[in-house]
Amino acid sequence: MFETLEQLAPDSILGVTIAFRRDPSPLKVDLGVGVYRDDAGNTPVPGAVREAERALIGAQTTKSYVGPAGNLDFNERIIALALGPLAAGLADRVATIQTVGGCGALRLGAELVKVARPGTVVHVSDPTWANHEPLIGSSGMRLERYPYFDAARRAVAFDAMLAHLGTLPAASLVLLHACCHNPTGADLSPDQWRALAEVIERRGLVPFVDLAYQGFGDDLETDAIGLRTLAGRVPELLLAVSCSKNFGLYRERTGALAVISASSGAKAAVATHQARLARRMYSMPPDHGAAIVARVLADASLRRHWEEEVGSMVARMKSLRALFAARLAARLPGHDFGWVTRQRGMFSLLGLPEADIARLRDEHHIYMPPDGRVNVAGISEANVDYVVDAVASLLA
Ligand code: LMR
Repeated sequence: MFETLEQLAPDSILGVTIAFRRDPSPLKVDLGVGVYRDDAGNTPVPGAVREAERALIGAQTTKSYVGPAGNLDFNERIIALALGPLAAGLADRVATIQTVGGCGALRLGAELVKVARPGTVVHVSDPTWANHEPLIGSSGMRLERYPYFDAARRAVAFDAMLAHLGTLPAASLVLLHACCHNPTGADLSPDQWRALAEVIERRGLVPFVDLAYQGFGDDLETDAIGLRTLAGRVPELLLAVSCSKNFGLYRERTGALAVISASSGAKAAVATHQARLARRMYSMPPDHGAAIVARVLADASLRRHWEEEVGSMVARMKSLRALFAARLAARLPGHDFGWVTRQRGMFSLLGLPEADIARLRDEHHIYMPPDGRVNVAGISEANVDYVVDAVASLLA
């Protein structure tokens, strides 16, 4: 049977980690997969998460099943974190299911839309996270792209985006990055979110918001402005939440899919479909990460500690952006690197062709996906000059 299979090329992001690990060079730098790193290059478990985990292990009396919807306390608390003051008012219209990370939420959301309205087209930003199209497209949904990034200005091509979305047929699904756009780092301003919400509402489009980096752009509240602007206005919305980055729970695969429906009756039906889809795909999600998050969010002192830790992670990423921009500007005085500090989150695109990205890897041992996406958290005081020299030699 398996003789028919051909070996596949490595994943464009995860393959970078494999190649990096194989490289014996002491000079090597990993700017690839989107994980937060401290100055020593480690991806720490946040202290609040460790503490909650210890308490959880001490208190847990059973490992019996939780059910397809997962940890209900987690579901309520994670959606309250995302929706903020809107959560209470929307409670009778929101159906939430715990998922296998943010990826699980994206896929489950796509499967749900396919059941609710077969033939729906999902529109994704150009460019978008390298796994969005495979993950959602594997559900069988058709994907199209809308203009998003103006590579010359290194900012959102907002007029083109809005004009394009303004032509889509009603009930089209529009995938949006809530903050820290992956891979460009270019986000919408609050005014642009308002204008977008107006078009989405007027055209009867359905937003599918991917909230993978809450707290990594500016802070937990600011990063949710776009989501909340939409949720306060449109009758239907899907939300995929990931706890990988802000809780540092990458390998625990902790996420949620929340679906806002137009009525409480539709919400009840959605909840049954979410559970059935999960049951048919993987039965139920793993509990550990969700139980940790629920505990952190429920305990005032753990929560404060965690919020401070998220604050210091984002502060570090902003200072790395400033450092990277300043060193690039010093090395190449004629160039404008203001975009590095204007962009948000972990990622920016270097804007170099794929051949140059291969040279960075082969000649300088600097690793990133072929689109030239840099994880700024991989930069450090120790490697910044080495990285800047190599990048500048190609930009000059
Ligand atoms: C990334 O974009 O690097 C992360 O979201 C990790 C992944 O799964 O691709």
